[in-house]
Amino acid sequence: MANEELIDSLNRALGLELAGVIQYMQHSFLVTGAEREVFRGFFRDLSGEARDHAETLGDKVVALGGVPTVEPGEIRQSTDLGEMLRQDLELERAAMEAYMAAWRACTDAELATKFLLEERIASEQKHIEEFEKLTSERKANVTRERITLRQVG
Ligand SMILES: [Fe+2]
Repeated sequence: MANEELIDSLNRALGLELAGVIQYMQHSFLVTGAEREVFRGFFRDLSGEARDHAETLGDKVVALGGVPTVEPGEIRQSTDLGEMLRQDLELERAAMEAYMAAWRACTDAELATKFLLEERIASEQKHIEEFEKLTSERKANVTRERITLRQVG
């Protein structure tokens, strides 16, 4: 019997990756100013990565007896780079929730899918941490670092 909960979570992740393909591409179109030099390529690479992720998910959904979604999640856009980065962070967090739910839905019969999801979760977490740094939500604790250095010296 097909694991409907797993298929649903994978489809949720697929919809968010499909949204990522378009959202990142759109951000690469819209980014202007000096930052464009760096962020055009940055967003296009992420769009390509989201497409690769969507492909694995669609293939897996069919392998499990489901039908892959053709509905992307919500696509958000802005002409302000800071706002784009916050939108992308939120999209990555939503995808992470879907991947976690899929991971939790795996039974002993779906160990290989579970391993695949673990790799994906690790790489999505890297994206989240990078976006948290880009939006300055995550920073090194400089005060603590100075104290540590003083203790070492
Ligand atoms: Fe992804």
